[in-house]
Amino acid sequence: MKILVAAAGRHGGTWEIAEEIGRALVSELRGSAVVRVARAEDVTTVEEFDAVLRTMKVWLFSSGPVGTPPKPAEDPVDVTRLMTLSGARGHVVFPGRIDRSLLRFGERAVVTALRVEDGDYRDWPAVRAWAGEVAAALKPARTREVSGHVERG
Ligand SMILES: Cc1cc2nc3c(=O)[nH]c(=O)nc-3n(C[C@H](O)[C@H](O)[C@H](O)COP(=O)(O)O)c2cc1C
Repeated sequence: MKILVAAAGRHGGTWEIAEEIGRALVSELRGSAVVRVARAEDVTTVEEFDAVLRTMKVWLFSSGPVGTPPKPAEDPVDVTRLMTLSGARGHVVFPGRIDRSLLRFGERAVVTALRVEDGDYRDWPAVRAWAGEVAAALKPARTREVSGHVERG
């Protein structure tokens, strides 16, 4: 099975989440999956993959909310439409990261006006747990159901 994890972001925070999802999928599906983590803009075809498009199995993730508790609490605006277009089986929002040293002047002005504190709020256990759920849904049925059905002669 070939799995594509594609991500787009501005300052690398979302990319590192995609990499962690990729690592978690490899470790969960060891031996039965090849996982490629790619920048969304570099993906020109998905024909070779088993999990990604409408005829394939698709999951979506977003990274954004920052602070304690993470804000904004509501879903990104376009997510319902993206779910419909992609036929996604699920969508999750992970907390993100704000590092002013990586921001351009205009972006710094926006986060300052919104009184957003710098901080890395990314929740790695939550990222891995979500990747584990995706992996479980991708596992061939015989692998998932093997326990209790193995007979040794
Ligand atoms: C100018 C600016 C505006 C942002 N607006 C939002 C927003 O509307 N909603 C949100 O969830 N996160 C918002 N964020 C937070 C980012 O989405 C978050 O920091 C994310 O982890 C960044 O990912 P990246 O490093 O891949 O770009 C904003 C960040 C910046 C710098």
